[in-house]
Amino acid sequence: MTLAQAPVAGDAALASLPERPARPRFGAPLQAWYPVAREAEALQGVRTHLHGRAIILRRYAAGAIGAPHQPDLMVVVRAGLVWARHLHGRGQVVPPLIEDSIGGGHFPMIAYSEVKVEADYDQAVLGLVDPAHVPMVHDAWWWRGSTKRRVKTKQYAPSPFGFTATAADPFASALAYALTGASRRITIEFRLPSTRIERVEAEGFRLVNLTTVTPTAPGSVTLRNAIYCSLSPMRALHPLLSALGRAFLEQDARILRRFESRRVPGHPLVFVGAPDQPSLWYYQCKAALGRATEDAPFANPVRTTVLQWRT
Ligand SMILES: [Fe+2]
Repeated sequence: MTLAQAPVAGDAALASLPERPARPRFGAPLQAWYPVAREAEALQGVRTHLHGRAIILRRYAAGAIGAPHQPDLMVVVRAGLVWARHLHGRGQVVPPLIEDSIGGGHFPMIAYSEVKVEADYDQAVLGLVDPAHVPMVHDAWWWRGSTKRRVKTKQYAPSPFGFTATAADPFASALAYALTGASRRITIEFRLPSTRIERVEAEGFRLVNLTTVTPTAPGSVTLRNAIYCSLSPMRALHPLLSALGRAFLEQDARILRRFESRRVPGHPLVFVGAPDQPSLWYYQCKAALGRATEDAPFANPVRTTVLQWRT
């Protein structure tokens, strides 16, 4: 928890995870899907990494993208990205990929950026769920118009292999959102293993902001951001929006490097009150995924909750 995330009065309950859980709580689930490249670059042939192993992606004669000579690797294209997973352990439950419709002809990608960083995987994923992350790390004037502290209220509900937050406040933190009008509806879904899907729906306008963390090697991750919009003319802004997205990811990378320089391996995790609840859910969801099998489906530990904090 940071000082900027003070829980509101009467909400300072402490929670912690056991120091020696029955299953490992750290690290990336091995059986899950992760994006490993852009579809456009994979069509040309590209070398990438997942869980410390090199992956060579090529286009087969029939047009599909695959990883020749790696029979224990599954590869699919979804939302303009190539996703891969290792066939690791029979009977393990695999969280589903994002919807097929995103990135399709009617909902094209209008920005893409990626940044590699030497950082702890879980710390990088916590940046996707921690409510303090955006106001503390992403401080561009055009994104966060005011530095004034406000009480924020969000409704959280379980969603497949994670949870979804809906803002209950009448204001938007980001100036960019104010442009979408008062009728906008913004939801932010987190889905295991490391996918954040922000959806903005307004009059005649839909936008999806996808952010992911890929474990490329022990102590190394790739952060990716892709934005999809229902307004095709927005594609003309691809270079500009991609540069802005990259600036966001560089801010993430900078803070992760600072964490990395001060990290104490094996330090017990402590979660304080409402601002840390999504981080606690992240670890609880990951533990639930580790327990899930074909006979015992994923039991989502998240309960519908209203969380409030000052940020
Ligand atoms: Fe971020």
